[in-house]
Amino acid sequence: MNNLNVLLLGSGGREHAIAWKLSQSPRLNHLFVAPGNPGTAKVADNIALNPLDFEAVANFVSQQSIDMVVVGPEEPLVRGISDFLRNTPSTKHVMVIGPQQQAATLEGSKNFAKEFMQRHNIPTAKYRTFDASEVAQAKEFMLELKPPFVLKADGLAAGKGVIIEPDYHKACQALNTLFAGQFGDASQKVVIEEFMTGIELSVFVLTDGESYLILPEAKDYKRIGDGDTGANTGGMGAVSPVPFANQQFMQRVEERIVRPTIDGLRADGIPYNGFIFIGLMNVDSNPFVVEYNVRMGDPETEVVMPRIKSDLLPLLERCAQGQLKGSTLETHKEIATTVIVVSDGYPGSYPKGIPITHCPNNTDQTIAFHAGTSVSNDQLVTAGGRVMACTALAPTLDKALAMSYDIAQSIQYQGKFYRRDIGLDLK
Ligand code: AMP
Ligand code: GLY
Repeated sequence: MNNLNVLLLGSGGREHAIAWKLSQSPRLNHLFVAPGNPGTAKVADNIALNPLDFEAVANFVSQQSIDMVVVGPEEPLVRGISDFLRNTPSTKHVMVIGPQQQAATLEGSKNFAKEFMQRHNIPTAKYRTFDASEVAQAKEFMLELKPPFVLKADGLAAGKGVIIEPDYHKACQALNTLFAGQFGDASQKVVIEEFMTGIELSVFVLTDGESYLILPEAKDYKRIGDGDTGANTGGMGAVSPVPFANQQFMQRVEERIVRPTIDGLRADGIPYNGFIFIGLMNVDSNPFVVEYNVRMGDPETEVVMPRIKSDLLPLLERCAQGQLKGSTLETHKEIATTVIVVSDGYPGSYPKGIPITHCPNNTDQTIAFHAGTSVSNDQLVTAGGRVMACTALAPTLDKALAMSYDIAQSIQYQGKFYRRDIGLDLK
């Protein structure tokens, strides 16, 4: 059996972590990343392709005899890249990791996800969905709920579509703004739901639509400031494993959420080959779904990949072929932590092109995954809000955090910022 040529789509820290893991596989022949970043360039060949240009992706796949396409971010999935590759004669034989458009709607429409959970008795917050003609009913429904009020634009809104507002009148104003087209088509419909109090957890599943493997779980730190203060970001750090996700809790997650989700997809006739990221709330030791994503999380992937001991590529191969049944996953017992160094001003506006004058070498236990970097005139420079993910693997949380913070400290560029309290709440 020939080894595999793989094309990974995406350019963030998540893709560097996936590329880093796949590059270690004895089953790999050649790894390409499109468009990739300077980090992926160290472990793969970067290709200047836009993942949203499906024709160009399909042409590359045929020309380079690609056997498998792994889709990192959600946007190509929600726009149907998986269907496109499956339906194009020259690429229909190719294995695709990433669900078809119908399943990607689990992430692309909050209303679709809530209806799916309700239909399959999957625990989630009480909700209703409204459109602009139902403003009065929406405001009335909010009166049935206790504050704070949770308003969600139905469609993709670049991670900004969730509003949590304690004041009823401000929540009503926010609702008007959403319906006035704050997120264009994405906020034509708005999901209003009950606020859940608890601790969040990210659970990852690899599924072929029938069988599944639960990957290591992780905790993400979403706010910009220490002590979970300030604006929401894409994620400022992550830790895996998570102490409260003990065997009993994870059993509840599997029985009440993971299995009903996979069975529900099958019952609804929705094929699925790829990752599911389930954002959960632990409410008094009971898991509730906050959201589904049809991809891996970022920065969670930067701690999940280092904890996977098994060769990932054969598992992806079985996933794409619908043969995941009977597969097992070996994990490292060590703790993985990552601290994200960001650009000054993030998640608001920030400068780009700032020279990164020092970046430490990776070791077996420490890796600086590139997230928002590029090369300009032979100089590594910043190119995004989240610049690098400083990941470490160690026998204890303290040691891993100390190592992550050593990397974060040694990376040098003007305007570097990072949270100082990643993982402290888990001690
Ligand atoms: P989402 O985009 O659905 O993940 O929402 C973004 C963030 O809003 C989540 O990660 C939670 O921190 C918070 N959130 C969303 N829905 C709820 C809810 N029903 N109760 C409490 N927090 C929520
Ligand atoms: N870390 C959250 C996300 O990837 O959406």
